[in-house]
Amino acid sequence: MTGKLFVIGTGPGNPDQMTPEAADAVSQATEFYGYGPYLDRLHLRSDQRRQASDNREELDRAAAALHAAATGATVCVVSGGDPGIFAMAAAVCEAIDSGPEEWRAVDLVVLPGITAMLAVAARIGAPLGHDFCAISLSDNLKPWNIIENRLSTAAKAGFVIALYNPISKARPWQLGKAFELLRLVLPATTPVIFGRAAGRPDERITIQPLHEADAATADMATCVIIGSPETKVIARDGKPDLVYTPRFIAGENR
Ligand SMILES: C[S@@+](CC[C@H](N)C(=O)[O-])C[C@H]1O[C@@H](n2cnc3c(N)ncnc32)[C@H](O)[C@@H]1O
Repeated sequence: MTGKLFVIGTGPGNPDQMTPEAADAVSQATEFYGYGPYLDRLHLRSDQRRQASDNREELDRAAAALHAAATGATVCVVSGGDPGIFAMAAAVCEAIDSGPEEWRAVDLVVLPGITAMLAVAARIGAPLGHDFCAISLSDNLKPWNIIENRLSTAAKAGFVIALYNPISKARPWQLGKAFELLRLVLPATTPVIFGRAAGRPDERITIQPLHEADAATADMATCVIIGSPETKVIARDGKPDLVYTPRFIAGENR
């Protein structure tokens, strides 16, 4: 008998930002697979079992979850944020792509979640109000030269850039190097938003101009949003600055 495999995201960490659809999947499943801190965000019943694993073991975790679902269990694979953005939905698809035939028969349900860049953007105004892209700064799964090329190309094309996985103990220099590259392309005053732990009690949102942007402001719980040349900062008396990117760019095709 083939079971069911839900792939869900918890949202950025605030329980109110997990969708009702994902919460419903949690109530249906009995087997849970995920990185421990993400599983900790769920309130599981005594009949629900958790298999926590390290966040570098995504493919093994996906295979274990698919195996359980293929043998009849109702399984939930848990990511933070949205499961399709630098997260487990792709790992599950990779495992199905290269795995045994019976994994293709599993009833797979991927449920969307609120991703980090949306939670950070909402805290500060509307920096993603016009065209934008998301880039993972991790060179664990792709070569650094590709990241450099994508950063420069995206900045030259006028995209706002949301950087995921900006820095870690094992990757201490990449964010500083990214700022160096972007300073060659973007105005010095371009706002850089460091959105740390958005939606959580330890949230910290900081804005710095690109020419002063300090990589040490970020940690691995930070999503960094770099504005485009159109992105503006609105100062407000007694309230935090607003950052937004207008919906329009003056030109012939407006
Ligand atoms: C492996 S990625 C997973 C992204 C996740 N699937 C999502 O949609 O948000 C982990 C990165 O997401 C970002 N991130 C996750 N939660 C965050 C939060 N609450 N606030 C800011 N950034 C967050 C950080 O850049 C972190 O290094």
